[in-house]
Parts: sequence; C-alpha cells; structure tokens
Amino acid sequence: MSFESRIDAYLDRIEDVLERALPGPDVKPQRLHQAMRYSVLGGGKRIRPLLVYATGEVLGVATDMLDAPAAAIEMMHAFSLIHDDLPAMDDDDLRRGRPTAHLAFDEATAILAADALQPLAFSMLADAPALQEHPAAKIQIIRLIAEACGSLGMTGGQAIDIAAEGGRLDPAELEHMYRLKTGQLLRASVLSAAYCPPACDIAELHALERFVDYMGLAFQIRDDILDIEGSTEEIGKQQGADIAHEKATYPAMIGLDEARQRADELLQNALSALDEIDRDTESLRYLARLIVLRRT
Ligand code: IPE
Ligand code: IPE
Ligand code: MG
Ligand code: MG
Ligand code: MG
Repeated sequence: MSFESRIDAYLDRIEDVLERALPGPDVKPQRLHQAMRYSVLGGGKRIRPLLVYATGEVLGVATDMLDAPAAAIEMMHAFSLIHDDLPAMDDDDLRRGRPTAHLAFDEATAILAADALQPLAFSMLADAPALQEHPAAKIQIIRLIAEACGSLGMTGGQAIDIAAEGGRLDPAELEHMYRLKTGQLLRASVLSAAYCPPACDIAELHALERFVDYMGLAFQIRDDILDIEGSTEEIGKQQGADIAHEKATYPAMIGLDEARQRADELLQNALSALDEIDRDTESLRYLARLIVLRRT
C-alpha cells in the first residue's frame, strides 16, 4: 500500500492530536484560545507532520511516539505563519483561504496567540506520554525544535527575509535565508522522527539530513513559484504578494524557468540521498515529489 493511501488517516490523526492539545474555545481568555485554534486547526497541508510520520514509517518508529513531535512542529509552524502575516512583516490578508489571524481577530490577539503556541509546543513535548520512557530522545527532540526555530533557524531566516525586502541577495545568501526560514523546521520534522527509538544508524541519519536539506530549499522555491503562477484560490494566499513587497526570491533572482529547474534538480538530489538508505523509503519519496509538484 502506498503512502498516498495513508495520508488521509495521518491528516485525521494530526488534527485530532492538535485539537486535543489546544485549550477549548470556551476556556478563558476565550478570544486568545479562539485565535490559537483558528490558526492551527482546519487548514494547511500539514507537510511537516506528514514528514514526521513518513520518516517514522521508514525507520519503524511507533506512530504514537511521533504524535507529539508532529503536533509541536505544526504549532511552531502556525506561530511562524501568524507572525509572518502581520503588518510589520509580510502584511498579508489571506492565509489558508481565510482572513489572516490579525484580521480575523486583531493584531494584539494574533501576536499573543503566536506567543502562546510556542510554549504549548514545548510543554506538549515535555509531557508526551509515548516519550516518557525515552528521556534522552525527548531532550534531543526538544533541543532540535528549539534550535530550528531560533535566531539561527526560522526566526533568523525571517529576519534576513525582512531585511532583504527591496534589495538583492546573491544566490548563496538567498539559499542561506531559505535554509533558515523554511529548511530548518522541515529538517526538524525528519530528524525528530529519526531521534525516536529504535535509533537509526549514523549513515542513515546523514542520508536523511541530506535528503531534507535539499527538500527545504525545494519547498521554498516551490512556494515562491506558486506566488507567481498559482491562483489566489488554489494557494489560499494573495497571489503576487512577493512581487508587491519586492521580496528576495529565487524566481525574482533567476527567473521562473530556472527556478523550476533548480527545484527539480534539488528533488533529484533528495531522491538520490534516499538511495543510500537500505529500507523502504517510498513514503518520503512520495512527499518529496508532492512538495515540488504541488499546486497549493
Ligand atoms: C508556508 O508553509 C510557509 C513557508 C514556509 C513557505 P506551508 O506551505 O507548509 O503552509 P500550510 O501549512 O500548508 O498553510
Ligand atoms: C515564510 O515564507 C516562511 C516562514 C517562516 C513563515 P513566506 O513569507 O514566503 O511564506 P508565505 O508565502 O507567506 O506562506
Ligand atoms: Mg515571509
Ligand atoms: Mg509570507
Ligand atoms: Mg511565500
């Protein structure tokens, strides 16, 4: 059975884990909890949780061990999207086909909802029942996700992105920014599963790292391409927003055709990295193609 046939079950599963981890909409302060739930639940491709589950499948990790890392990473992702859309950042009105959090609620509530999602992600990891017997793996995963989101990870990448608006980055600087703002959280998705027992060997870990490093770049290049050639309806975000903000992107730097070629080359490199793993890697191969060929 292909990974594709299991995706819907994983999507239901992660929705359920997230729903149970978030405070209910009637818990005070209600507006804050409603904004958190609005930003996390009922939308998004859930690519990061799917990467966690897919890597877990490759390595034979019990699914219940993967729930907390998958949900924690999705919460950190949701927090990054709330901030990314704020007027002080990308100033976007539409996210996942709905008004952005600061418009659906208000700016202060959106900022606070993002603030509260971060500690919730980490307390969820700390409390994960399936990881209780594996404290070393748990600490490693907490450190991995913390580093992926910090000033040398996603937040640092976002700082570079904002500073580059209206200016130019050379190709190496642009790829560095992609690796941080997008690549690090994807890397944490794959490695958090790899850190769960049973431990994989070091050569497999390195192959997975190479795989996801290529995919991190490819993911953001595809996002940038869709900003140009996608439709607002399909992507659930305002098409053309990057051009309007003079964002430093791959297509802006080298053109759409070359950006497409680069994404394809990265996909091939990522698939080659998986050749070094002597296991069934179909689930990750499926997601890699989805990331580069997606329309949403
Ligand atoms: C958007 O991420 C932000 C980037 C890192 C490019 P996704 O494309 O994964 O957004 P959702 O979660 O599916 O909405
Ligand atoms: C955002 O990149 C990366 C994040 C860390 C949120 P973008 O600004 O291109 O993401 P979208 O296009 O708004 O989803
Ligand atoms: Mg942005
Ligand atoms: Mg944005
Ligand atoms: Mg974008």
